[in-house]
Amino acid sequence: MSFKFITAAEAASLVKHGHNIGLSGFTPAGTAKAVTAEVAKIAEAEHAKGNPFQISIFTGASTGDSCDGVLARAKALRYRAPYTTNPDFRKAVNNGEIAYNDIHLSQMAQELRYGFMGKIDYAVIEACEVTADGKIYLTAAGGIAPTLCHLAPYIIVELNRAHSNRMMGLHDVYEPLDPPYRREIPIYKASDRIGVPYIQVDPKKIIGIVETNWPDEARDFASSDPVTDQIGQNVADFLLSDMKRGIIPSTFLPLQSGVGNIANAVLGALGREQAIPAFEMYTEVIQNSVIDLIRNGRIKFGSTCSLTVTNDCLQGIYDDMDFFRDKLVLRPSEISNNPEVIRRLGVISMNTAIEVDLYGNVNSTHISGTKMMNGIGGSGDFTRNAYISIFSCPSTAKNGAISAIVPMVSHEDHSEHSVNIIITEQGIADLRGKSPKERAAAIIENCAHPDYKEILWDYMKLGGGKAQTPHAIQAALGMHAELGKSGDMRNIDWASYK
Ligand code: COA
Repeated sequence: MSFKFITAAEAASLVKHGHNIGLSGFTPAGTAKAVTAEVAKIAEAEHAKGNPFQISIFTGASTGDSCDGVLARAKALRYRAPYTTNPDFRKAVNNGEIAYNDIHLSQMAQELRYGFMGKIDYAVIEACEVTADGKIYLTAAGGIAPTLCHLAPYIIVELNRAHSNRMMGLHDVYEPLDPPYRREIPIYKASDRIGVPYIQVDPKKIIGIVETNWPDEARDFASSDPVTDQIGQNVADFLLSDMKRGIIPSTFLPLQSGVGNIANAVLGALGREQAIPAFEMYTEVIQNSVIDLIRNGRIKFGSTCSLTVTNDCLQGIYDDMDFFRDKLVLRPSEISNNPEVIRRLGVISMNTAIEVDLYGNVNSTHISGTKMMNGIGGSGDFTRNAYISIFSCPSTAKNGAISAIVPMVSHEDHSEHSVNIIITEQGIADLRGKSPKERAAAIIENCAHPDYKEILWDYMKLGGGKAQTPHAIQAALGMHAELGKSGDMRNIDWASYK
C-alpha cells in the first residue's frame, strides 16, 4: 500500500475540540511533536474567534515542549495522563486549568484498553521507518504506542528523519492479553526478547505520514554538586555493603534508576565502585550516564522504555549501533514497568523523594500536599515490587528552610509497607525488618539534617511514644504549616500544639 504524505498542519486540522489523542513516546524521547505543535496553533485561532477548543492527551510518560508546553500555553488541554515534567503544564495544572490524572506508568496502556479513559480518536506515532504492509518502527521510546495503534481507528505517523533507521531492531514490541486471558510475561532476564521489533498495524488505518526532522527535546540535567555526589556515594556504599553481607547476590541484581541529577550521581558512583560487578539495568529511562557506563563495560545490558539522552548521545548510539545492538532493548512501558517482571527479576529500585516521613512513607509528587510537581511516574511500579526499594533525596530543600524528613508526609505515594531504604547526604536509614518506632529513630539519626534532628525528636515526644505509630495528630503537618506561615520549618514551636 502506498501512503499519503501530508503536512503537520493538515494532520492537525483533523483534530477537533473534544478529541482524545494518543501519542507515542516516553519522556520527550520518541514523542510525536509536529502535529501537537500545529494543534496548539489551531486552538489559539479558535479561542481568538471565541470558540472552545480543548483536547485530551494520552502518552507513555512526559513529553517535550512541543506537546505539553505549547498545548498548556495555548489552553488547549482538557485532560492529560499519565505523567509530565513541563513547567508551563505544571503551572496550568496547579491553577486548576487541566484535569490531570497521575497514574502508575505500567497501568496506562491497560487502563486505555479496559476503557477507563474513553476512546482514542487519533494515534500520532513517531517512527523511523514504516513499511507498505503496516510495520511501524518506533524511535527512541516504546511507551504505549502498541496499544494506541491497536485501539485508534486512525493513525498518523510522524516519520522523523532526525532519528536514524538504525534504530530498527532495538525495540521489543509485546502487548499482553487482557484478563481473563493474560498469561505470564516470559521475561526471565533483563536481556530477554519476547516480541517483535515493530508494531504491526492494518496499513489502511495509517491515514497520513508527516515527514519531519525534529530532534528529541530531552532535558539537560544540572551538573552534580557535593550533596548529590554524597547521596550517590551513600547509595553505592549501601549496595556494596548489602552485597558483602550476602543479601544481594555476588553476581548482583538488575537496577532501576529514576531520572535527574541524583540518579546521575548514583550511577556515577556505582560505575566507579569496582567492587560492584558489572551489572544490568531493568528500568524505564536510560540517561547519558548509563550509555557511558555501557561503553566502559560497567553496565552489561540496559532494558528500558526510552533513551532519554541528549541528542549528541543518541547520535553516538546510532553511529555505534553495531556495539549497542546486543546491549540495549526498548520495551513498551507496560513491560518495562511490569510488576510481575520486576518482582521476578529482583530489580533494585532507586527513586527520588520530595519528602519522607518518620515511618518511611514517601511523597514523590506534591509540594506541601497540594501542588503537583511531576507525577508518580514509574516509581510506584518499581518500589512496590522491588527486591530492595531505595528512596534518596537531599535532607533539606530551599537553603535549609524545608526539611525533607517530616513528621507526616503531606501527600503519600509510597507507603511504609513498600519503602526499604532512605538515603540522604547525611546517611542511610535501613528500614527493613524494623517496627515503626525503630524506623523513626533510624531516619532521624541517619538521614535528617542536624538543624532538624531535635525538632523531629521533640515531635516524637509530643506524640507520647506508646502507640504503634506515635503521632500528635494536631501537629503532624505543623512543619508544613510553619513553612506556609514563616517560610522556614526551623521556626516551628511545638509548644503551641500541646
Ligand atoms: N518542599 C518543597 N520543594 C521541594 C521539596 C520539598 N520538600 N523537595 C524538593 N523541592 C524542590 C527543590 O527545591 C527543587 O526546586 P527548584 O526546581 O525550584 O530548584 C525541586 O523541588 C526539585 O527538587 P530536586 O532536589 O532538584 O529533585 P529532582 O529534580 O531529582 O526531582 C522529584 C525530584 C521527586 C520531583 C522527581 O524525582 C520526580 O518527579 N519523581 C517522581 C517520578 C519518578 O520517580 N519516576 C520514576 C523514575 S523516572
